[in-house]
Amino acid sequence: MRYDLEAKPRMRFLLRFALTFTAALTCAWPQQNTFDTPEGRQEGASLFQTHCAYCHGAQGEGGRGADLTSGVYKHGGSDRELYATIRNGIPGTEMPTVRATDDEVWKITAFVKTLGAVGLRETATGDPASGKAIYAGKGRCATCHSINGEGGYVGPDLTSVGRSRSLAYLMSSLVTPEADIAVTYRAVEVITKSGKTARGIRLNEDDLSIQLRDSEANLRSFLKEDLKEIRRDKPALMPAYGTTLSRKELDDVVAYLNSLRGAL
Ligand code: HEC
Ligand code: HEC
Repeated sequence: MRYDLEAKPRMRFLLRFALTFTAALTCAWPQQNTFDTPEGRQEGASLFQTHCAYCHGAQGEGGRGADLTSGVYKHGGSDRELYATIRNGIPGTEMPTVRATDDEVWKITAFVKTLGAVGLRETATGDPASGKAIYAGKGRCATCHSINGEGGYVGPDLTSVGRSRSLAYLMSSLVTPEADIAVTYRAVEVITKSGKTARGIRLNEDDLSIQLRDSEANLRSFLKEDLKEIRRDKPALMPAYGTTLSRKELDDVVAYLNSLRGAL
């Protein structure tokens, strides 16, 4: 093997670089949040308004994002865990990574902890037992949704929906389901050249084909050359319940959904 004179200094440089880099990484993960000071929390509060309030509410009361006022966290409530949640987002959910520096994320973490201390837990006014009966009966919700592994798969799993969504969000999911549809649940309608139509949630699509899951949970695959049209302007498959359920029934279903907290 040829001895490369250049290799040694380069190795040393690489080693030094690696060490500095590791040190920098460890520094970014202190055990204690050094920004948990009155100034840090205040800066965190304004960063929260910019980056988080549109999902979590101005007071952290929740909305499209989880209620952050209960002091109970599915993804962990220690400084490090909250930091990791906010820094990295929660894969597989709508919770994104944040475009902010590490120091800023520590400030946001310090502010988020103050929200949890308030302990303003929302209380649903409806009757969860009656809501559960409507869910299983008249509402036919289980044809599309699962709770603890039982039910359909057309819509999202609702096992812990009460933790991740606010009461107002749950109500609007029932009354105006088209208001905020997760990208993964956008419905499409395809019309074949022979005039047949099919509607469902788009599972996959490439240049040649498209796959859907229809509301009976059948997987359907179409070759694009057989299609006349693909309509993407269709609202979600979730029916609006504003007219089929009374105001009291809606409150009861919301109370039931709010009680679904999954395993923490
Ligand atoms: C696009 C909407 C959206 C934005 C923006 C957003 N979040 Fe979230 N966040 C969510 C959702 C949805 C969840 C619940 C995820 C789940 O199902 O566990 C969540 C969960 C969390 C959790 C975990 C709660 C728990 O119980 O463990 C924390 C903490 C959190 N968000 C903080 C923040 C902070 C701080 C910001 C701003 C830097 C932020 N989020 C921005 C949607 C959002
Ligand atoms: C025909 C299938 C279907 C039926 C029936 C149905 N849903 Fe849905 N539901 C969906 C789909 C698809 C979505 C996702 C798209 C959206 O957000 O509208 C959804 C979304 C939701 C959400 C929002 C979940 C989240 O975290 O964003 C809630 C809550 C919900 N449904 C509750 C119910 C309840 C309660 C019933 C019965 C009263 C019901 N659904 C009946 C298909 C259905």
